[in-house]
Amino acid sequence: MQEEIQKVKDEATASLREIRTQEDAENFRLRFLSRKGSVAQLFDRLKDIPKEDKPALGKALNELRSFVESEFDAARGSIGSTASRETAGIDLSIPGRKRYLGRKHPLTQTAEEIKRIFTGIGFGIADGPEIEDDYHNFEALNFPPDHPARDMQDTFFVKNPAQKDANQNGKYVLRTHTSGVQIRVMENNKPPLRVIMPGRVYRNEAISARSYCLFHQVEGLYVDKNVSLAELKGTISYFAKEFFNAEAKLRFRPSYFPFTEPSAEVDVNCFICGGKGCKICKYSGWLEIMGCGMVDPNVFKFVKYDDHEVSGFAFGMGIERLALLRYGIDDIRLFFENDIRFLNQF
Ligand code: PHE
Repeated sequence: MQEEIQKVKDEATASLREIRTQEDAENFRLRFLSRKGSVAQLFDRLKDIPKEDKPALGKALNELRSFVESEFDAARGSIGSTASRETAGIDLSIPGRKRYLGRKHPLTQTAEEIKRIFTGIGFGIADGPEIEDDYHNFEALNFPPDHPARDMQDTFFVKNPAQKDANQNGKYVLRTHTSGVQIRVMENNKPPLRVIMPGRVYRNEAISARSYCLFHQVEGLYVDKNVSLAELKGTISYFAKEFFNAEAKLRFRPSYFPFTEPSAEVDVNCFICGGKGCKICKYSGWLEIMGCGMVDPNVFKFVKYDDHEVSGFAFGMGIERLALLRYGIDDIRLFFENDIRFLNQF
């Protein structure tokens, strides 16, 4: 009997190796593991065995059955994968390809952060056209015709094909700043006003690490009764602490813009070198972040606001500049090349 058990075990082991298809597996099961199969037949013969041999033979039979069953399960389990691997010619053992998640451009992320900060203190959002007329880009902002201040902005002029008279061609420009949107907002709304105006602007400048022919600004405008310079400083300081960090220190430097009086440029202390002086802050310890000032009464006259009734402040910041400082990037052109290896870092 022991020999017969060994014989069935050897036969089963040999046939297991031959299993390739579901049909092979079924034949194996019928031959060894069904109710009439060779394993069951050996169990049947146990009743005719002398009593004293039963425990040892019973144990050997149980071992045989669990051996054949588990080997059979394993052989059957690998049928599917072996077959499809062969038929489709695909190697399923190769690791999968990594899927990259899309992400927002660093300029978009910076603009969203600026919007989040200002909408959080009650500012609304407005926008205006990128092809702007001379009136909104310059004249109503108190740039008189032929005033040298127009040279501060290297303007791209746009031809209007509908314009027959060539002398009228200077009338349209690619906007050089978002300040024209201030005029549009005031033309269409009564005070009080609290708005920011993000958008793309264009300047005909030589392209370098520091300037590009297009960039983005966020304009701000606040008009109400008795708006003071202190409120302008408070608002800008709040923004800088939120955007950079709570330790940010500001410096307001007197400056000139035709549409604000007084005017200032705002610097933040250089957090890259901690004020000691480095390449980024040009060894001054300060980084310029925006222009600002109190709205010039002449601007209120253009939009028919009573300049004795209301006052206001305005500011304008460059999104690229803020993003460069925020991420420690040293070349503005990187924002426009859209090299995926650069963009993937944000
Ligand atoms: N428009 C100015 C510029 O582009 C910035 C500015 C906006 C200054 C609003 C004062 C007030 O440089």
